[in-house]
Amino acid sequence: MQQYIKDFAQLVGHEVSIKGWVTKIRKSKTACFADFRDGSGFTQAVFALESLGDEQFELAKTLTLESSLAITGQLIRNEKSLGGYELQVNSFEIYHNAEGYPITKSDEEMGVKFLSDKRHLWLRSRRQWAIMRLRNQLIMSIHNFFQSEDFVQMDAPLLTGSACEGTTDLFETDFFGQPAYLSQSGQLYGEAMAMAMGKIYTFGPTFRAEKSNTPRHLSEFWMIEPEMAFYTNEDNMNLIERFIKSVIGEVLYRCKDELEVLGRDTSSLEKVVAETFPRVAYSDAVKILRGELEINGKNAIKLQEEDLAQATARLAEIQAEIAEREKAIAAGMKKGARRFNEGKILALRGEAKELEEKQRHIPDWIESAKNFEDGEDFGNSDETVLTRVFSTPVMVYNWPAKIKSFYMKEVDGDPSLVKGVDLLAPDGYGEIVGGSERETSLEVLVRKIAEHNLDQDDFEWYLDLRRFGSVPHAGFGLGLERLVRWVCGLNHVRETLPFQRRYGQIKP
Ligand code: 4AD
Ligand code: MG
Repeated sequence: MQQYIKDFAQLVGHEVSIKGWVTKIRKSKTACFADFRDGSGFTQAVFALESLGDEQFELAKTLTLESSLAITGQLIRNEKSLGGYELQVNSFEIYHNAEGYPITKSDEEMGVKFLSDKRHLWLRSRRQWAIMRLRNQLIMSIHNFFQSEDFVQMDAPLLTGSACEGTTDLFETDFFGQPAYLSQSGQLYGEAMAMAMGKIYTFGPTFRAEKSNTPRHLSEFWMIEPEMAFYTNEDNMNLIERFIKSVIGEVLYRCKDELEVLGRDTSSLEKVVAETFPRVAYSDAVKILRGELEINGKNAIKLQEEDLAQATARLAEIQAEIAEREKAIAAGMKKGARRFNEGKILALRGEAKELEEKQRHIPDWIESAKNFEDGEDFGNSDETVLTRVFSTPVMVYNWPAKIKSFYMKEVDGDPSLVKGVDLLAPDGYGEIVGGSERETSLEVLVRKIAEHNLDQDDFEWYLDLRRFGSVPHAGFGLGLERLVRWVCGLNHVRETLPFQRRYGQIKP
């Protein structure tokens, strides 16, 4: 019977049979020590000459990185080995002796370009394993939340005849001689369904032809879009907050191992669950960004200046330490100690690279923040500066109409503003959620469609929703990959999904 590493706690002391791959191997005259992966987890397998005999041990010595095999052995606890257990192999059967595996070193050493091109293999690394498991848990937790709140899941079409989020980022395709577009959002269809079911959510792929090569833009990403009849934007914000807290809380509880593999500092995520999300109007957000409004004595611009000073000081420290370690290596030391020092230097260089980037960027961020023009949309750096004064995600509401989509409801008494809301994650992760209360008036919608240079014909079906039992309603969209990036604490969105589709990356 095939058993799994994830169940080792219950199997310790017994003979166990697992199937999987070698992820690392060290060979000596009397034993081979292999790190071993079976999909459910990672462990160490020891192939000892003494227990295997000459012939089998010679065979074990042929094992290479990513060779696949079935092994049976005695399972013991070993705090020092990978995963806390060790499998002392009694017998094994090789499925395949792998050729020279191309990923032989750490992610830093292999480099992002190489790893992205080898994504089909990179997925096997322990770090990627942790991220994909977290993504899986987030997906489950999202469904759990909405299902437990009696939302009905619906599938919106992926081929559409009209644009939901403006006409500039559409992927166009040919639909039997007519133009069709890959869906940017299921929202408009979700609104129709909410009028039938009350509360719905979509969960599916969406597409944006943005030529943005940034750490958070994908061309193909998964979006969760709830839509609720009889909800105001106030209700919408309450739901967003409860939803995010619930999902993060569940992941913190269920994915401790994965978060540990990623080295994610979970204290900031715990705050998300425990503390109330601040809500600020766009007009106040602009003041905070420019350093004109402080939050609990925190000034966004001053904090950036402090970050810059700190980065500069730490860089000097790092450079001194690197120089010292290099000097020690040059003076001569034993192989083990040299390896240790080289490892440290590599890690320090990695940290220095990040700090140098900060040094390069922060002055521009400050410049852009100070000169931010009221009425404009926040850029990536603006979101980073703005959220620096908060320790939880922050909700920004009441946005200028001219930078938001046609369907957002105008603020009573001020048609220059709309009842939109963006949820901005802390620590530079930026916009995670965008949503709004929807315009209910047929007249206003017809005007807005014209103002946005959209063709009313394409939206006649949508306008019907305002002709037949129009009600206040609201909804939002959460970008799954943005959520994964934040929860996992990743620098870049490329690792948040199995195979990225991003400006400049269509393979593998
Ligand atoms: O703010 P957006 O464009 O809003 C909508 O699409 C609405 N129709 C949602 C609604 O109200 N039902 O996108 C929503 C979210 C963003 O907050 C972000 O998390 C994600 O989708 N997103 C992207 N994620 C990755 N790559 C991109 N290019 C993204 N564009 C948006
Ligand atoms: Mg948005």
